[in-house]
Amino acid sequence: MLFKKIGQFEIANNSSFMARVLILSLPAALVFIMLVGLNLLTPYWAIVSYMMIIVFNMVFLLPMSAELQQLKKYINELAKGGVADDFNMNFSEQEAREIAETINSVHKFWVYKTDALETQVMSDTAVLDTLPDPILMIDRSGNVLGANLSARQFLGADITNKNIENVFHANNFINAVARVLKKESESENLIFYAHKDKKTEQKIYAHVKQLPWFSKGRTVAVVSLYDLTKAVKLEKMQSDFVANASHELRTPLSVISGFIETLQTTAKNDDQAREYFLKIMADQTAFMSDLIENLLSLSRIEMTQDELPSERVELAEVIEDVVKAMSLKAEARHMHIITEIPPHLPPITADNQQIRQLIQNLTDNAIKYGLSPSDVTISVKEVEKIPSSKSFSVSNGKALAVSVNNKGSKISREDLMRLTERFYRMQEHKDLNIKGTGLGLSIAKQIIIHHRGNLTVNSTGYDGTTFTVYLPLDLNKNS
Ligand SMILES: Nc1ncnc2c1ncn2[C@@H]1O[C@H](COP(=O)(O)OP(=O)(O)OP(=O)(O)O)[C@@H](O)[C@H]1O
Ligand SMILES: [Mg+2]
Repeated sequence: MLFKKIGQFEIANNSSFMARVLILSLPAALVFIMLVGLNLLTPYWAIVSYMMIIVFNMVFLLPMSAELQQLKKYINELAKGGVADDFNMNFSEQEAREIAETINSVHKFWVYKTDALETQVMSDTAVLDTLPDPILMIDRSGNVLGANLSARQFLGADITNKNIENVFHANNFINAVARVLKKESESENLIFYAHKDKKTEQKIYAHVKQLPWFSKGRTVAVVSLYDLTKAVKLEKMQSDFVANASHELRTPLSVISGFIETLQTTAKNDDQAREYFLKIMADQTAFMSDLIENLLSLSRIEMTQDELPSERVELAEVIEDVVKAMSLKAEARHMHIITEIPPHLPPITADNQQIRQLIQNLTDNAIKYGLSPSDVTISVKEVEKIPSSKSFSVSNGKALAVSVNNKGSKISREDLMRLTERFYRMQEHKDLNIKGTGLGLSIAKQIIIHHRGNLTVNSTGYDGTTFTVYLPLDLNKNS
């Protein structure tokens, strides 16, 4: 056994091993001293016998000690994070083998537990990161212990470890968090204003909630935030819309009421003036009725926005009808409408009435704002894919692309960006006194969104302006 372990002979030189051997041999030394004292043994034989006992103890202890050293090494490895399976388990001593096996199974159990815990933590983090609203976890002193992805995007990647007082400076928010941390209240709901930078102020709804007593971690409260800025903007857009619509109606109304007054008084018996005023009044009334009709169209389309259109529409037929209806208007401006429609176009799934209005609005614009005399061209082609949009979702799969082109001056980049805004009209057309409500293209955009399609505008000095509408072939299958 000793020779088997000779490779680990350094262990025999180890001072603690030798001390252990000497301690084990001590009772024998005492016995030998007594025997020599009683003259029952000569000192020579006493020393020889004692040396033999030491050698015997070394032989007896060495394997055990070697295995213990090996075990120690093994446990040290595990403590440093080593892998249990990598370890050589060839212990010759029964006890050492059993201890090693026990340690190994305890280690395996903890590795399994730690893995399970890590997986759970990772999946909890992933779930929190999918939430659209910012969430902060805070400790007893108000320090941020964790933040989900949305919070990190909203408040910066270095949000963790900051004190909540340094994140938002709004007093009502800081006080609400303090009340929850002091357990004066279980939860708090409030609205506060935060300054993102010098110019932008954000309206934020916050919900601060104490965690239940059985949650033993360092997190004691959770703050969830909801950015109300977009909702406020939407509210403002709606009130702006009502203000704009009222303003647009008030202008012709005041013109009409002014002329009525003139006709009742100063121009009472002036036949020529009456004819002139009545013509203007008729124009203003027509404008008002167009405006009301467009406002109603907008609200009707918005109301249907959640239902997908389901009619089978032959685009070629719709275009031919629109061309017929608009030809007089085109002729009045010395223009021709040319159509380039391939035969046997597949039908599209759409709302017939809305598609008619869409093509009509684009053709009407081309006639109104195009160069006179020149041609307006309406062309259709089948495309494999609708170009994607940043602000709304478009249908996948094949589509029909309808392009309406007119000649004329180039539209500037700034104007192009705003054309589909409600009531937006280009200054040069207002200056030229071309009538319009500024709603035609916003109606077109709503119809396109309803059909999960898209709109592109291309304007150059040479080719004129082309509005291209993409409408999916099979809306229900691909949206
Ligand atoms: N084909 C075009 N060429 C040049 N400018 C255009 C063209 N189409 C639209 N515009 C510009 O975009 C603005 C908005 O168009 P939109 O159709 O929404 O309103 P409108 O034509 O003024 O009013 P409405 O359509 O109610 O008669 C127009 O006022 C015009 O300035
Ligand atoms: Mg228009």
